[in-house]
Amino acid sequence: MKCPVSPHIAKVNYPPISEVKQWAAEYQHGKKLPLIDLCQAVPDYPPAEALTRYMATLLSDPLTSRYTPDEGLPHVREALAARYRRMYGAELAAGNICLTIGASQAFWLAMMTLCQAGDDVIVQTPYYFDHDMGLAMLDIRRLYAPFDPANGGIPSVQAISELITPRTKAILLVTPSNPTGTVTPPETLELLYRLCEENNIALVLDETYADFILADAPPHKLFTNPEWGDHLVHIMSLGKTYSLTGYRAGLLLASERFIHQALKAQDTMVVCQPRLTQMAIAFAAENLDSWVRENCRMMTKRHEIFCREFALPGNRFELVASGSFFGWVRHPFHGLTGRQAAKKMIDEAGLLTLPGEVFGPGFEGYLRLSLGNIGEEKLPEAIARLRDLH
Ligand SMILES: Cc1ncc(COP(=O)(O)O)c(C=O)c1O
Repeated sequence: MKCPVSPHIAKVNYPPISEVKQWAAEYQHGKKLPLIDLCQAVPDYPPAEALTRYMATLLSDPLTSRYTPDEGLPHVREALAARYRRMYGAELAAGNICLTIGASQAFWLAMMTLCQAGDDVIVQTPYYFDHDMGLAMLDIRRLYAPFDPANGGIPSVQAISELITPRTKAILLVTPSNPTGTVTPPETLELLYRLCEENNIALVLDETYADFILADAPPHKLFTNPEWGDHLVHIMSLGKTYSLTGYRAGLLLASERFIHQALKAQDTMVVCQPRLTQMAIAFAAENLDSWVRENCRMMTKRHEIFCREFALPGNRFELVASGSFFGWVRHPFHGLTGRQAAKKMIDEAGLLTLPGEVFGPGFEGYLRLSLGNIGEEKLPEAIARLRDLH
C-alpha cells in the first residue's frame, strides 16, 4: 500500500475479536476437541419469535427501505423514552434520544461531541477495548483509573478525581463492566456525577449490559434528577437486550442540546439507524419487557453455574470478578502474557478467550471469559477443560 495512513490509526492494535477468531479458524483444521467460544459478548439465543415475525411483515413495505430522520422516527424514540421512564423512573423525552448503529456508534457520537484532539478523557480500567481504540484514533489522551481487584474493580471516586486535568472533558465508565462484569453501585455513580458537576465535565456511562442485572431497583437514579442532561451522557446497546446485535441497534441519550450537536456527526457518519432496526426496537420496547426479564434470569443462572463450577477443587485459575456476561480471571501461567495464555488455551483445550492486555496496560495476567456465547449445559465442560490445563 502506498497511500498514507494516519499515525493515529496506525498505532492502534488490530481488533482483538478478529485476531482471536483467526486463531479459531486455524484451530478448526486440526482440532482435538470441539471449540468452546468464550470470546465474544453476544447472546447465544435468538430474538423473540414475535419480534422476528413482526419484522418479516415489514420487508414488503416500500417505506422500510427508506431513510428516516437522522435521530430516528418520532414514535420509536417515544417508545424508548417510555421504556426509560418505566425502568429508570427517568425524567426524559424522545428529544433526548438519538438512535445509532449500535452502542459503538453512540460512543463515537458522544466523544466527537465532547472532545477535540489533545483533550483528556478519564477511562476506568480494565476498559472496553473499542473505547480505547476509538479515543486513540481521535488523538484523545486516556488517563487510566486503576483497577482494584480487592473490590472487583468498583471505581474509586478519589482515584478518578485525582486524574482530572484542565483538559479533561469526560469520565468514561462501563457498568456492568466489560470485561469484569462488575456493576458500579448507584451511590458511586451519584458521586461520580457530582464530581463531573463540580468540574463541568461529562459522565459518559455505557450501560450496554444494564438489562442483565437482576434487581428490583433501577441501576441508578441519575435520570430522576431533572438536570441530569447537564453532565450525563448515556450509551446503550439494544442489540444485547433484544439479541439483535447484527441489526446494530444502539442509542445515545443526552440533553436535547447535546443531541442537537451530535446530529452533525450522525448525519456525516451514517445519516440514520436503518428503519427496519428502528421498527424492531419500538416493537420490542412496547412488547418484550417480560422476555428481557426472562433472559436476564437465564443469564443470572448461567453466571451462578459458572461461579459454582469455577470454585470446584483443582482449578488453578482465579476468578477475580464476574457478572452475568463475563468472568475476569487470572491465569496460572506465570511468565506468559495474556495473549500467550489465550493461545495456549485454544491450542491445548479448545477454549477461545480474550487476553487481558487488550483491556488495558498491565493486565497480561488476566483473561476474559464471555458467558453470553454458550448455554449453561456447556459450562461444566468449559470449566473442566480449564482445570485440566497444565
Ligand atoms: C461495553 C460495550 N459497549 C458497546 C458495545 C458495542 O455494542 P453494539 O454491538 O451495540 O455496537 C459492546 C459490545 O460488545 C460492549 O461490550
